Amino acid sequence: MKTVITYGTFDILHIGHINLLKRAKDLGDKLIVAVSSDAFNRGKHKSSLLNYENRKTVVEAICYVDMVIAENSWEQKIEDIQKYKVDTFVMGDDWEGEFDFLKEYCEVIYLPRTEGISTTEIKTDIS
Ligand code: CTP
Repeated sequence: MKTVITYGTFDILHIGHINLLKRAKDLGDKLIVAVSSDAFNRGKHKSSLLNYENRKTVVEAICYVDMVIAENSWEQKIEDIQKYKVDTFVMGDDWEGEFDFLKEYCEVIYLPRTEGISTTEIKTDIS
């Protein structure tokens, strides 16, 4: 049983998110997604259009996702990896290198982002 974890805001779900989650699930048997809480986003000066409950419910409905937890801090990753016995930590390659310190605890994989789409671009397009 191989457990994979990934983190993100997942605001205004789009194909880039789905591609990332599908590939993450393909790396193991169980996929845990840590969805950023509203307070954590505010701390990053990143506002989401949809609140945490909305984003969590949408991500939970994705067939590749087995479990959703809240991301409340930058520091929780090591604790999550230990608590959920995570084998593989996955992020899009916009984060390349940022989480290499986790290699001490599990495998760390950066997957190529889907070109040409992001929540920020969608927000810009509709405003
Ligand atoms: N992601 C991806 N391809 C995209 C957009 C996002 O693979 N085109 C990945 C990110 O690399 C991350 C996860 O999806 O691992 C969640 O990203 P998130 O920050 O929620 O999405 P973005 O659309 O990048 O949002 P923003 O523009 O606000 O940064």
